[in-house]
Amino acid sequence: MSNLWSGRFDSAPNAEVFDFGKSLGVDKRLIDDDLTGSRAWAQALGKAGVLTPADTNAIVSGLDAVRAAVHADPTMLDRADDEDVHAFVERELVARIGEAGKRLHTGRSRNEQVSVDLRLYLRRRIPALQGGVVSVIEAMVAQADRSGQATMPSYTHLRRAQPVLVAHVWLSHVAALRRDWDRCETARREADLMPLGSGAIAGTSYPIDTEFLARTLGFSRVTLNSIDTSGDRDFVASFLYACAMCMTRLSRLAEDVILFTSEEFGFFELADEVATGSSLMPQKKNPDPMELVRGKAGRAIGVLAGWLATMKGLPLGYNKDLQEDKALAFGAEDDLAGCLMTCAAVVRTLTPRPAVMRQAASGLLLATEVADYLVGRGLPFRTAHEVSGKIVRELYESGRDFSSLDLQNWQRYHPLFEEGVFQAITPEAAVAARLTPQSTGPGAVDAAITETKRWVRGLPAPPA
Ligand code: ARG
Repeated sequence: MSNLWSGRFDSAPNAEVFDFGKSLGVDKRLIDDDLTGSRAWAQALGKAGVLTPADTNAIVSGLDAVRAAVHADPTMLDRADDEDVHAFVERELVARIGEAGKRLHTGRSRNEQVSVDLRLYLRRRIPALQGGVVSVIEAMVAQADRSGQATMPSYTHLRRAQPVLVAHVWLSHVAALRRDWDRCETARREADLMPLGSGAIAGTSYPIDTEFLARTLGFSRVTLNSIDTSGDRDFVASFLYACAMCMTRLSRLAEDVILFTSEEFGFFELADEVATGSSLMPQKKNPDPMELVRGKAGRAIGVLAGWLATMKGLPLGYNKDLQEDKALAFGAEDDLAGCLMTCAAVVRTLTPRPAVMRQAASGLLLATEVADYLVGRGLPFRTAHEVSGKIVRELYESGRDFSSLDLQNWQRYHPLFEEGVFQAITPEAAVAARLTPQSTGPGAVDAAITETKRWVRGLPAPPA
């Protein structure tokens, strides 16, 4: 068996062990990036006078021919028996253009090649994930718009806390998802460094114009140190972190959707198209897709922790352990893309039940409003809190809420209660009383919706 390094060895590799080390099944996903990086490398070699113009041209057109062949028949990669995508490309190139193809790897190592490939890959793929985040945000903004002035309870400790606008709840997820978008951007920026010129570890002995390579490949900067570059996969960790964080977010969203669409809450109805039935219980309408999102978040976190564990013991420079990065990164990417698509589809098709939500927002959770009403009439807050607490205790014991009190009842608790109390102690009044820009006050929520739409419009166009 001949491979990229057989010259040094007396015997052929143990076939099973060689197969164990193969990565083509995973890194075939880097084919376009490997061709892109190799094309630029050939041009840099030509520019440095290492390759003749004829050889440079032959390699460049040979690589373009390999690309065309792979695009025409992607199964080529499944049938190939090469160690990795780099070996695949080199073999295909030499098969097409002969001797000149064997000059492509001059001054270059697979250690930097795999780094440039993965950096190119993440740089062009992360925007698609960011687009997925934006789709979820848009579905939420549409729900926020649709909900108008509808109210629902907010929860702390999963106990009813205070009335809020339904739109405010959607915007809370939006605010968090925007941080996820930013984390993706940070990961993309970290991938945006050009590693070629690092060689296997010590750099290359040809006068390669690394700025030319960076420009040609669309990178903003060149890496700083060849030793660091050959063993650096921090950018993979950053990507996995961005994915794990976003998956954690979607898991919490999924949990909210699962709860709020349950019989117990009944705040929203799950669309049939994104629900599943039971093979046994005819009444069931299960939120399987949301449960899967919640479940996959566990794996995303495990992948991040696993990758950090792989990196932590490595000595300087490249080590084959690093080959494990791609299966993790591609898996994290696929899972996140699927979860974002699913969440957008579920949120987009939720039907709100405003009457149920308002009812749930109308009970004893208006107790803060009762206290604030008395404060507005001059009572110190601590005293008002106590008065309101006493009313709550008595109403709770008799299974009633504030709406069961007439003016006489109110005044029995405190003489400061007057006619106006009936208008003040409603979910709508509670919401309208909130004044800060982060609050559920209708003006603030309106402004937040407008600001979110402006943010979406200002984003860079999604990649083709
Ligand atoms: N398949 C390898 C990887 O993914 C490419 C680099 C191999 N370098 C080496 N010296 N074996 O890391």
